Amino acid sequence: MKKWYAVIGDPIAHSLSPFMHDLWFEEHGIDATYIPIHVQPFELENAFHSMKALGVSGFNITLPHKQSIIPFLDKLDETAVIMNAVNTVTYNGRQYIGWNTDGDGFVRSLSAQPITRNEKVLVIGAGGAARGIAFALKRADFTDVTITNRTHRRAVELANDCGSSALTLKEAEAALSDFSIIIQTTSVGLAKDEALPISLERVSTGSLVADIIYNPLETPFLKAAKEKNCTILNGVGMFVYQGAIAFEKWTGIQPDTEKMIQIITEKLGGNYVNR
Ligand code: ATR
Repeated sequence: MKKWYAVIGDPIAHSLSPFMHDLWFEEHGIDATYIPIHVQPFELENAFHSMKALGVSGFNITLPHKQSIIPFLDKLDETAVIMNAVNTVTYNGRQYIGWNTDGDGFVRSLSAQPITRNEKVLVIGAGGAARGIAFALKRADFTDVTITNRTHRRAVELANDCGSSALTLKEAEAALSDFSIIIQTTSVGLAKDEALPISLERVSTGSLVADIIYNPLETPFLKAAKEKNCTILNGVGMFVYQGAIAFEKWTGIQPDTEKMIQIITEKLGGNYVNR
């Protein structure tokens, strides 16, 4: 029987996940489909029970349900516990298990670049996304990770939790040339005219500067990094790899991520706007 998967969110119409997973199902001759479902917060519990009753094989969760889905699940993987947020649910025939593939998705995207794990990494931000990435960097054996954040207390908390160190924004700006990998995880950059989360004045030429945002493809932060002759990495890779990890959990198959990054980038290169 045909299997079905889904992504639930509010809004959901512009999610690229259905396109991506359907293409992977097709490529691998898997008889399955992946549908976007618009679920408003007050309907989340009903929606989850309905999906169970209708035999969903697995699903993704996007804003604003990543935390509120947790009470309904049978079990959480460590990745979801660390982030206190779930973006992927698997079903093993008995239990619905929550995972968070965002942090590992980012690190896989980063690891596809010519870098080594002993380079000095600066993570800007201390919210949910930064938390997922900081722990995933540790899991992937990056040895030198520093967190900086507008609210310093949150940077210190995250650094203590994941065994890294923390700097104030001012300290990080002053020491920026020490870091060869800089990862921007805040929401600054979603709006065109927003300021940069940190000044790139002292960044070293040739550093890798990454942003987890993929729409726009080039945030003001990445533009500024390019002007400083840095290598830039946008959030398309993270988006594709977080989906690929979910796909692997559901099907046991590793999909073609490189081709998908190209396809999604081309799709976003036009006038695609999702907010
Ligand atoms: P997410 O789950 O997407 O990471 P979040 O938990 O709300 O979202 O975290 C948002 C992050 O963006 C935080 O690091 C936040 O900094 P504060 O802890 O100081 O709030 C950061 N952020 C948001 N707007 C910012 C801005 N205008 N300048 C600098 N940092 C900003």
